[in-house]
Amino acid sequence: MKLLVTGGAGFIGSAFVRLVAGRADLDVVNVDALTYAGNLENLASVASSPRYRFVKADITSFDDIEKVFSEEKPDAVVHFAAESHVDRSILMPDAFVRTNVFGTFTLLEAAKRHKTARFVHVSTDEVYGSLDEPHEADENYPLKPSSPYSASKAGSDLLALSYYTTFKLPVLVTRASNNYGPCQFPEKLIPLMISNALEGKPLPIYGDGMQVRDWLFVDDHCRGILSLVEKGRPGEVYNIGGSRSLPNIEVVKRIIAATGQTDKLMTYVTDRPGHDRRYALTSEKLEKETGWKTLVPFEEGLAETVKWYRENTDWVSRVKSGEYKTYYTRNYGDR
Ligand code: NAD
Ligand code: DAU
Repeated sequence: MKLLVTGGAGFIGSAFVRLVAGRADLDVVNVDALTYAGNLENLASVASSPRYRFVKADITSFDDIEKVFSEEKPDAVVHFAAESHVDRSILMPDAFVRTNVFGTFTLLEAAKRHKTARFVHVSTDEVYGSLDEPHEADENYPLKPSSPYSASKAGSDLLALSYYTTFKLPVLVTRASNNYGPCQFPEKLIPLMISNALEGKPLPIYGDGMQVRDWLFVDDHCRGILSLVEKGRPGEVYNIGGSRSLPNIEVVKRIIAATGQTDKLMTYVTDRPGHDRRYALTSEKLEKETGWKTLVPFEEGLAETVKWYRENTDWVSRVKSGEYKTYYTRNYGDR
């Protein structure tokens, strides 16, 4: 089977490509525009495989995407490519609408024209919005996105599902909780706190730090997606959660301990506008239908992640140079 993976140079997409590269029955074409978040260094271990091919292309370009589908004739699409960071969506929402909504539309149209046998649209638990205790979202929970990022993902989820209802394109939607692990761009909570802690820099905590997120190790997420490529039912939505809810402050304290730093680095800053207080979801449907379960406990995954950032300081300093500095000053400068 040939998979067309979009966004395969990003954090989760590259973990997925590395996972499927270990499978002799799968060929992979990775389509990525290499934005600030795309990094081919993440794919060094698979670059020379005869079953892997990289195509630099923008998913919002009909011409680029038509060319890829005509040449590659994929059996399935696994669609990761997106603008993925909430804070950036507050500063510059236009790219989120363009890539997440229009880019998904471009891919759906190509898959429809080429009668692609499967289309897995990778989405997020953020589309359900903030949930009060003790509620957790199942796949029928109402959508109530808060940020331009989550609204653009909710829009793309609904567009993808409409292609199943209207055109019988075999679309599946996945909604995962907060991922963490190696190769994550240091704009998200865990890699930002680890890399700042390792450099002895302040750890910026939004508001009171009591917001709750459910943490999912990236390889567990990727195994969940692969199980749905193989066994998921078209037209269905599947949650993928880590079953490990923690307030942000607790995550930061564990990172301080793991990096040998002190609490003095913790710096409370102005809250994120529209900040969702709590995400929570159940993955029972995925577990029952595919037998998937998480394999990596948070303590183990966090230790592995800290180790990776310690050992890959060159990777970190390369991605933290240039555009990152401008973003960091803009996002944190006036907090
Ligand atoms: P990321 O920002 O690390 O990577 C995104 C990738 O998409 C990059 O390689 C980038 O170059 C590529 N890309 C962006 N715009 C593109 C375009 N116009 N054309 C082609 N490629 C483009 O993102 P991530 O954290 O790996 O997230 C991947 C997917 O998973 C996203 O759809 C995101 O919404 C979803 N998701 C993420 C999380 C999380 O915790 N990170 C959780 C649930 C769902
Ligand atoms: O829930 C899944 C989503 O998780 C994905 O769809 C998104 O792509 C991904 O970015 C992530 O969104 P969050 O907004 O939850 O993740 P982030 O890492 O940006 O923030 C996690 C929590 O930490 C959130 O409550 C905000 C807080 N935070 C974040 C940063 C970057 C801080 O307190 N300080 C920070 O500097």
